Amino acid sequence: MKLTNVKPADGKLGIMVVGCGAVATTFMTGVLMARKGLAKPVGSMTQYDKIRVGKGNDKKYLHYSDIVPLAKLNDIVFGTWDIYPQNAYQSAIYAEVLKEKDINPVREELEKIVPMKAAFDHNYAKRLDGDNVKDCKNRWEMMEGIRKDIRDFKAKNNCSRIVVIWAASTEIYVPEYEPIHGTLASLEKAMKDDDREHIAPSMCYAYAALSEEAPFIMGAPNTTVDIPAMWELAEKTKMPIAGKDFKTGQTLVKSGFAPIIGTRCLGLNGWFSTNILGNRDGLVLDEPANFRTKEVSKLSTLETILKSDDQPDLYGNVYHKVRINYYPPRNDNKEGWDNIDIFGWMGYPMQIKINFLCRDSILAAPLLLDLTLLSDLAARAGKFGIQRFLSFFLKSPMHDYTKGEEAVNNLFEQYTILKNAIREMGGYEADQEVD
Ligand SMILES: NC(=O)c1ccc[n+]([C@@H]2O[C@H](COP(=O)([O-])OP(=O)(O)OC[C@H]3O[C@@H](n4cnc5c(N)ncnc54)[C@H](O)[C@@H]3O)[C@@H](O)[C@H]2O)c1
Repeated sequence: MKLTNVKPADGKLGIMVVGCGAVATTFMTGVLMARKGLAKPVGSMTQYDKIRVGKGNDKKYLHYSDIVPLAKLNDIVFGTWDIYPQNAYQSAIYAEVLKEKDINPVREELEKIVPMKAAFDHNYAKRLDGDNVKDCKNRWEMMEGIRKDIRDFKAKNNCSRIVVIWAASTEIYVPEYEPIHGTLASLEKAMKDDDREHIAPSMCYAYAALSEEAPFIMGAPNTTVDIPAMWELAEKTKMPIAGKDFKTGQTLVKSGFAPIIGTRCLGLNGWFSTNILGNRDGLVLDEPANFRTKEVSKLSTLETILKSDDQPDLYGNVYHKVRINYYPPRNDNKEGWDNIDIFGWMGYPMQIKINFLCRDSILAAPLLLDLTLLSDLAARAGKFGIQRFLSFFLKSPMHDYTKGEEAVNNLFEQYTILKNAIREMGGYEADQEVD
């Protein structure tokens, strides 16, 4: 590894996961199993991918950890919050994502991961009812309670660094409201005034994390870090944030497939995406106000890849629809269907059908590992604010707000941005060569 000014990944990294549900426990179990050599962290870029550094005769392909200092799996300590008090073992069994034979070897470690009381507001997820919830007078106190949890966890587990990642249920849609979300001062005032309409519990987690010098990653589509007040806080605390909503199944396919249509200059009339899933996430998303949050996130992908302004003949009239249907028999095994109506030479129509029989949490778990390790890296590299290189992992990426940049959704462009960021942090030149 080259000598750079990125701080080394010494000591323990505390990964504090908001929500101890299907995704969180699949992630934790996989990491604990992998470090015992009992499972492979398949799908994780930080564990598998190799990036070319150097050119011509000097070129070599290296794992991320040979280019930049990354925290090791053995150095991770997990913490969590949930509105249900079940420990991570009980919760993993309840989620029914993994077989017991893949959970039991790390049962003791999982049993020690007991959710702290959640910062929760029933109005934000009406289908949930748990009582492992903080009792607080107002949103400011809620946030202070989370800050204390982070400090206590860090001290108790002797962690040198913390990352907080949201893998809790999707909250109802909170549209950006400039008078409250526009500045840090107005956000803080609203928290103290207990403005429950504009301050979601997730904002309290984000505020607390950034204030405790921990990067914050939003894994659901909640409007939490995509408001100017949070950008201001990230600048002030010099901590990384990113876009939002783990890019796992259908949107991963969409952001990888749409470029095929775009690069060949084929036309698009419509793209209909539907899903059935039966886990608790599906139950929450069955509530229209919670689905709205997801819908906004999922819809943004296509229009920035196939742009109507650039190619009005091809993408000027696209009908894009996304649906999620709660269907209990499928549990975590989501099925997605995409019907894509394209047109070719002289406008002749054609159809493409994609049927993805996926496992939601199996796809999400490696993203939690990559996002936490890479945001910890970014913090040690002195990067703060929105990390565009993490867009690769997110359905709703965000780019430089100071320049009003439009986020890149094209998977392959996102991958180039990711590789270049790793190269640069490793002291190599960023480049656009085809690998
Ligand atoms: N799996 C995927 O492919 C995928 C992709 C993108 C986003 N997500 C998002 O990840 C999140 C987690 O998904 P899941 O399948 O694990 O859901 P889940 O319902 O199994 O787990 C979520 C957990 O969060 C808890 N929770 C809710 N509000 C909370 C709060 N304020 N504080 C602490 N805990 C809280 C719930 O009690 C529940 O245990 C969802 O928001 C989902 O939309 C998942």
